[in-house]
Amino acid sequence: MTEAIRFPDGFLWGAATSAYQIEGSPLADGAGPSNWHRFAHTPGRTRNGDTGDVACDHYRRYADDVELMAALGLGGYRFSISWSRILPEGRGRVNPRGLDFYSRLVDHLLARGIRPLVTLFHWDLPAALEDRGGWLEPAIAGWFADYAEVVFRALGDRVPMWATLNEPWVVMDAGYLHGVHAPGHRSVEEAASAARNLLRAHGSAVQRFRAHGRGSIGLVVNLEPKDPASDARADLEATARADDYMNRQFLDPVLLGRPAERLPEVFGASWTPPSAADLELMRQPVDWIGVNYYTRSVVRDDPAALPVRASAVRQDGSRYTETGWEVHPASFTRVLCGIRDRYGTVPLYVTENGAAFDDPATARQEPVGDPSRVEYLCAHLLAAHEAIRRGVDLRGYFAWSLLDNFEWSQGYSKRFGLVHVDFATQRRTWKSSAQFLRDVIRSNGASLAETPGRGAFRG
Ligand code: FCB
Repeated sequence: MTEAIRFPDGFLWGAATSAYQIEGSPLADGAGPSNWHRFAHTPGRTRNGDTGDVACDHYRRYADDVELMAALGLGGYRFSISWSRILPEGRGRVNPRGLDFYSRLVDHLLARGIRPLVTLFHWDLPAALEDRGGWLEPAIAGWFADYAEVVFRALGDRVPMWATLNEPWVVMDAGYLHGVHAPGHRSVEEAASAARNLLRAHGSAVQRFRAHGRGSIGLVVNLEPKDPASDARADLEATARADDYMNRQFLDPVLLGRPAERLPEVFGASWTPPSAADLELMRQPVDWIGVNYYTRSVVRDDPAALPVRASAVRQDGSRYTETGWEVHPASFTRVLCGIRDRYGTVPLYVTENGAAFDDPATARQEPVGDPSRVEYLCAHLLAAHEAIRRGVDLRGYFAWSLLDNFEWSQGYSKRFGLVHVDFATQRRTWKSSAQFLRDVIRSNGASLAETPGRGAFRG
């Protein structure tokens, strides 16, 4: 007999996207350029020189895309707002046509009974603000809160859930340390100050929300359990540093009001302890935490890999996705339980989870068969359910992603969608994973027990 699976009543089932990855038309209707627009147009920065100029053309096709979401049975849709559509120079002058786009999108969603979860910053910073120092400039905390207030006032009557930042760790690590994301800098010192200003901006926006917003607000972080490659002391220490750097750097100040313990060790001479006033700002009470989970990593000591001095070890016998991420659903349960164990009960949403597999560029039939993605999603949903069974207050799950889209520096080479996009024609075609998720949503999880291949990935 297979065990019955049921998610809590009212569990929010959704899918996620972000502005620069799907919208296209980046300069339409008076929008200013973003740093990602600029970065993608700089030769050598993205795979094949791909840009978000067209992406999924969602800016013009949003109404059809909302119909797609309705057919999937989504209860929620997580999308982000492009700051430079609203404030073309990043501050000051508001562009009403930018707000109109999101207002229409929200109305379409509500008409279909889909709850909008709005991310205020998913990596596309107005280029004008980058020219003023971007995340290195302490004044950005106020710029971000001012922008957030404009959006709270315009959409707050209809949007029930807000996220401040998406994955601040990636902004600092990929953008300021490794230079593979906008703005493409490589500096340990800059990474440390970007992290601080991201946290300050988050706190300022939450404060502004309490004064002018309605509904609930949270922070979205990407978490990745770190396992030591061996019992050697150096590997254990490297694992602890990697864990603090990635998994605690943002959550500890927000939920505990203090910096993660090993950051001085990680950042060395580039580390300055945050002031009491900054910690106070970072620690604004949030209503929930959004968790983006894709993989875990096995860590060894590596003095050359600065600043953390740790690197990842590939696991023989494990499955890896097209982005080179190990498939490890058991770590998903660990991540969710780990938050509760460290920070106490805080409402959680899985705001992203999904996988890139090698789907064809052109869809020859509907659905496009993507059995590996179905297995991945199934195993991870069972892992999330296990966390709920262990008492974690998990309230919703958003699959990444609704559509195949612009995967940052990887361009269009990595497909994460439930729905296939033919980028030459913009044709949308369901994949089997879309049907799978529709059935999961309809049955509130019960169909997971019947999914072929449900035991395929045992982490
Ligand atoms: C996350 C990002 C999202 C997407 C997925 C694959 O780190 O938040 O935009 O790129 O990874």
